[in-house]
Amino acid sequence: MTTLDRDVVIIGAGPSGLTAAYELRKAGKTVAVLEARDRVGGRTWTQDMDGATIEIGGQWISPDQTGLYSLIEELGIETFERHKEGASVYLAEDGTRTVYSGEDFPVGESTVAEMNRLIAEMDRLTTEVNPDAPWEHPQAEELDKISFHHWLRNISGDEVACNNVGLFIAGGMLTKPAHTFSALQALLMSASAGSFSNLVDEDFILDRRIVGTMQGVSIALAERLGEDVFLNNPVLKLDWSDAGVTAHGADVSVNAKKVIVAVPPNLYSRISYNPPLPRRQHVTHQHQSMGLVIKVHAVYETPFWREEGLSGTCFGPSAIVQEVYDNTYHGESTGTLVGFISDTQADAMFALDEAARKEAILKGIAGFLGDKALDPEVFYLSDFAAEEWTRGAYATSYDLGGLFRFGPDQNKNVGPIYFSSSDLAGEGYQHVDGAVRMGRRTAARIVAAVDGTEHDMDYDGVVSKFGTLAALDA
Ligand code: FDA
Repeated sequence: MTTLDRDVVIIGAGPSGLTAAYELRKAGKTVAVLEARDRVGGRTWTQDMDGATIEIGGQWISPDQTGLYSLIEELGIETFERHKEGASVYLAEDGTRTVYSGEDFPVGESTVAEMNRLIAEMDRLTTEVNPDAPWEHPQAEELDKISFHHWLRNISGDEVACNNVGLFIAGGMLTKPAHTFSALQALLMSASAGSFSNLVDEDFILDRRIVGTMQGVSIALAERLGEDVFLNNPVLKLDWSDAGVTAHGADVSVNAKKVIVAVPPNLYSRISYNPPLPRRQHVTHQHQSMGLVIKVHAVYETPFWREEGLSGTCFGPSAIVQEVYDNTYHGESTGTLVGFISDTQADAMFALDEAARKEAILKGIAGFLGDKALDPEVFYLSDFAAEEWTRGAYATSYDLGGLFRFGPDQNKNVGPIYFSSSDLAGEGYQHVDGAVRMGRRTAARIVAAVDGTEHDMDYDGVVSKFGTLAALDA
């Protein structure tokens, strides 16, 4: 066992923990990062499969994600545009397949009008919601008491419109059924991306990808931190007092003034805190749970759909695979499709054996793009829910009523213990951008606490229209 002394120990080498460590190092603090896995990047992870670059976890970046953009600029990392040219495909509940162009789903004039009305209503409410403090909205309590499913149906009688609008947050983002989270949680998701219209617009929210892949951002940060990143070191025990902490890894222990717990909130209880965390954190952490989504990749000899004038973008709100996109990595001549199977559809797929699951999923993709989709060269199904150090995908959110009740305390430090995660972010919530913002913010709070100085008021690196979170510091 090696014992180290550092200013700050960081638990978790995902984008949030590594950004925090990088910022602390720049501010002259000594750090050590303890990571459970044998790799960095957390929920961002790349593998080469028969020559195709597959991003198993987080990968897309949107224009509003200026926290991540400023970091990659600093690291000298570039982006490339996702393939968007061509028509999209929509699969209706009755199985009707329609090829369409433009932003509106081909669901008939009155349902299109109703969807646009609901989107406008979400946009209107979103302008009133501070993503850093959604619980401060005047109707926050009320909006957190009702599920997004029922809230939509209270304001619209058009079932198809409600289902389609619900999908953008439920299957598309929180990866939980819309009856399990609140309207306030949906508004946080929308506010975190600037507007609901931004979430609905796949060309905005899935705009670009990273040259060298999203995991490459974490790898670049880890390279700068060098020997201060310790892999294969899950922290299962944390001793703490006002004087400091000791984090116990598998073969490294670190004594430090402060600790940043940069693991997903659903894993906070995996660590044994000595003394235990206060009652409030014990309860709060039980109300933050992971969604469930299968990200599936199919690689073909060529992007055959492009020859047919299709972009590869497909939506089927009631289908097994609800979304499909062209996910060919830049410079590769093969064609890669990515599909998403969310919440209860994912349960149904995991209930099948491997061969039946593959057949059902490929049939689902072929339902959009034809029989050529049935026979890929590579088929890969991500299973973050089976991974001990994640346990779901994409991220965590509160159960009904949890955001209003517990949200105000989620970012407060407990003595020397600070929490940093994309799942605690306002802007960039549940995204790598939010992980980066939280990493920077937490590092700035710790520097101010250790040095006894005032906060840098702009500690996201980007000015928030709603001001700062300086009030968090205990
Ligand atoms: P993250 O989970 O990435 O890292 C936490 C780290 O802590 C992990 O490395 C873990 O091993 C480690 N750890 C856990 N417990 C530990 C312990 N006890 N001791 C030591 N280490 C421990 N985002 C985006 O911007 N664009 C996108 O396209 C997508 N798409 C997407 C797809 C899929 C399938 C997933 C799963 C996720 C996304 N995301 C995304 C979300 C994005 O990947 C996510 O928001 C960030 O990776 C979160 O970064 P964090 O550092 O907060 O946690």
